[in-house]
Amino acid sequence: MVPTPAASVSFGQHPPARRTIVHLSDTHLLAGNAPLGGRYDTEANLAETLRAVEALGIRPDALVFTGDLTDLGEPDAYRRLRAAVDPVAERLDAPLIWVAGNHDERPALREAMLGLAPTEEPVTGVWDLGGLRLIALDTSVPGWHHGDLDAAQLRWLRDVLSTAAPLGTLLALHHPPLPSHVPLFDILELRDQGRLAEAIEGTDVRGILAGHLHYSTSGTFAGVPVSVAAATCYTMNLARPGDAVNGMDAGQSFHLVHVYDDTITHSVVPVTQAPTGDYFSAEWVERMARLSPEQRLEEFSRKPPRND
Ligand SMILES: [Fe+2]
Ligand SMILES: [Fe+2]
Repeated sequence: MVPTPAASVSFGQHPPARRTIVHLSDTHLLAGNAPLGGRYDTEANLAETLRAVEALGIRPDALVFTGDLTDLGEPDAYRRLRAAVDPVAERLDAPLIWVAGNHDERPALREAMLGLAPTEEPVTGVWDLGGLRLIALDTSVPGWHHGDLDAAQLRWLRDVLSTAAPLGTLLALHHPPLPSHVPLFDILELRDQGRLAEAIEGTDVRGILAGHLHYSTSGTFAGVPVSVAAATCYTMNLARPGDAVNGMDAGQSFHLVHVYDDTITHSVVPVTQAPTGDYFSAEWVERMARLSPEQRLEEFSRKPPRND
């Protein structure tokens, strides 16, 4: 299937999305594809996820991975990640944006994924996705699993945000600036979140993409929507009391982020083999496109008369 530009047909009152981003998180690969926790085949689960991404049949404006790219920061795990993802990004002609997480090791990530010197410098970057600015922040803290942003990185962020981008800005970081009802994530949260709030106040930041939780959730931070993508490796089984939540090899998903002029939607795409109906084909869409809005309502919105 040849991917098409991501903008879709529009039959409603909103014009099609200006930009489309695929947001994935927490791949947690290990050297030699060792099973994570002795249980999870992270490489197979990533391959399944990437198949689902390609099955969208779109050419996204970027593929964003919000951290915990590897589980232990091993160079071989990063090489395996690139071997899995690079060909997909090439086929989709989409830039790849790698974000560091607490399970990553900055020197190995920098060297293997970015071709940079293997230092402990934070992994940050700025992308111009056709007028939409995406800024990758590094909330990892060498030697620790909780998150933080030091004064230098916040200064850099303020500096980048001092000029606005035509379509506004998305931040991508690992530790979400949101509460979690799962106690273990409270211990491993992003510290001093007020300083990030100050840095983005009054700027053109329109959304924050994050990971770390291994479950999909959303909220607002300093008035900005935050969207957390679940993991490709394993996900947290939230069908349990908060203090008993743990991992399961099910529920993997990624997010399809549609950037409109006046809003941004984050849609959870399940990675599943479930049988799916074929009613709404490209031919159906073409037929609808030939109708007037009123005819479309008649055709598709009108209910059959009630018999009571
Ligand atoms: Fe993770
Ligand atoms: Fe994490």
